[in-house]
Amino acid sequence: MSLPPRAPAEIEVVAHRGVSAEAPEHTLAAYQQALTLGADAVECDVRMTRDGVLVCVHDRRINRTSTGRGVVSALDLAELERHRVVHRRPRGAAIRRRAPRPVVPEDDVEADEDAGRVLTLDRLLDYVTASPGRVRLAIETKHPTRHAGQVEAALLASLQRFGLLSGGRPLEWSGRPAVRVMSFSPTALRRVRGLAPDLPTVHLVRQVLPRSRPRPLLPAGTAVGPSLAMLRHDPGLVARVHRAGLQVHVWVVNRPRDMHLAVSLGVDAVITDEAEALLHLLGRA
Ligand code: G3P
Ligand code: CA
Repeated sequence: MSLPPRAPAEIEVVAHRGVSAEAPEHTLAAYQQALTLGADAVECDVRMTRDGVLVCVHDRRINRTSTGRGVVSALDLAELERHRVVHRRPRGAAIRRRAPRPVVPEDDVEADEDAGRVLTLDRLLDYVTASPGRVRLAIETKHPTRHAGQVEAALLASLQRFGLLSGGRPLEWSGRPAVRVMSFSPTALRRVRGLAPDLPTVHLVRQVLPRSRPRPLLPAGTAVGPSLAMLRHDPGLVARVHRAGLQVHVWVVNRPRDMHLAVSLGVDAVITDEAEALLHLLGRA
């Protein structure tokens, strides 16, 4: 069944790595900011440590986002926790640079001595589920082949532990699933839906597949997550995907003119570092 273009008031604002234009990415401070602003959802990347703990880290290495060095999957959680999280933008990040805020807001230092430590997925889920404001979760699995199958199994176990998933079905908040899983890897998405058939999935794509290559087999109903570059290059993509009955979640949209483009095309979700600007544009802040 074809989907209509999403009306502006219905477009989901997804804070990428928390409000990562304002606070260090993947920290509780960044996620707290998303809740304060009234974002609909938060995005989070997960990787597995050597001892099998899911942590919220984007890069394969911790070099950019912490005071330490090394590959996440080659370090135990205790080793990761020896280093402090720091604020460094990805190389070539397009958003304007603001004065970085401290990882631990001064007033909260005593209240939360863990704030400068790497964020575990469980800690994020604990924070989100304990918060009175409701913010949905868009969780992206990274390096799915390294710990074949373990990342997805650990992720779903955590979601169940925090009541976000039950019998393979996600909890619903305001009539929409409270959680979804995103990945560039069709294999990872198939694993997720094999374990939890009703958990929404989003296939992230950087570029259109050449016609000569077969399209990957994706679980039915998987939403499409095109890069902003794809949308700019091929705006008709949104209507085509909607005609196929699938949602469009575009990433990472930070400039006002790109936000206008995504909104005018009626995408279903916009993933952004600049949640406040998008909420303003949509008349919600
Ligand atoms: O939300 C999708 C987007 O986060 C994918 O790219 O590199 O920021 O994980 P990346
Ligand atoms: Ca991501």
